[in-house]
Amino acid sequence: MKGIVLAGGSGTRLYPITKAVSKQLLPIYDKPLVYYPLSVLMLAGIREVLIISTPQDIGGFEKLLGDGSDLGMELSYAVQEHPDGLAEAFVIGRDFIGDDNVALVLGDNMFHGQDLTATLVSARRKVEQKGGAVVFGYPVADARAFGVVEFDEAGHVIGIEEKPEAPKSNFAVPGLYFYDNRVCDIAAAVEPSARGEKEITAVNSAYLETGDLRVELMGRGMAWLDTGTPEGLLKAAEYVEAVQSRQGFYIACLEEIAYRRGFIDVAHLMALGEGLKKTAYGRYLMSIAREGGAQ
Ligand code: G1P
Repeated sequence: MKGIVLAGGSGTRLYPITKAVSKQLLPIYDKPLVYYPLSVLMLAGIREVLIISTPQDIGGFEKLLGDGSDLGMELSYAVQEHPDGLAEAFVIGRDFIGDDNVALVLGDNMFHGQDLTATLVSARRKVEQKGGAVVFGYPVADARAFGVVEFDEAGHVIGIEEKPEAPKSNFAVPGLYFYDNRVCDIAAAVEPSARGEKEITAVNSAYLETGDLRVELMGRGMAWLDTGTPEGLLKAAEYVEAVQSRQGFYIACLEEIAYRRGFIDVAHLMALGEGLKKTAYGRYLMSIAREGGAQ
């Protein structure tokens, strides 16, 4: 399965913070925001990832992440000329996807929790073995800013609406989607919505209509954090700091994940840590490498 991180958007809702800097490159405590969604694809075992951003911002992502070889990954880059909607990722990424399945994660979505890896691996397997699409439902206090799932009385999904004024449930659809290869054709055929965007919700609705959409509910114990406002950014940073300092485990440490998933070996991890040894981040990498047996 391939992966796409969509890190576009004009970021106007965070002005002036994002006037000169891409939202997805802002720090969330000790690492750039894009590390968190990229870590999600890596935890799903995905090694080939396309990063899509705006013409002015794409260079920053390339500078940060390079070709991915330091992580045992293959990273490539593409530009979304205008913020014309999330579903355009599959039009831009068509050649990259080829005849493979694909997971899309939005570059500003952060997830953390005990069951995250199992949830991701299971979603990937379902698409690989049975085809169709897997998306998630996450309970939020106010669902109006999101795609929202509608259920019938038996609990079956009967609809998904984008940013409804009167949400039919409190289950929002987070920015993490697993699709079979049909997504390329489905996305190409999506017409722009009233706000002029190719909506991801239209893609999900197309899968729902053919009976090929699975909505997995995420429950308590899973954090899906908001980064859409200054308060959200601050709270997300505080969450990361609180968990990391209490447990001693880092969230979204790409080098650690690459090592634990077998993308890189222990000597490589140690070398990456030594390169950053002035920072707590680098010393953390070195401590993981030592546990793994590096000198
Ligand atoms: C987008 C999607 C929406 C989804 C949300 C998750 O909204 O359109 O369906 O629930 O991401 O972050 P946007 O970020 O464009 O407001």
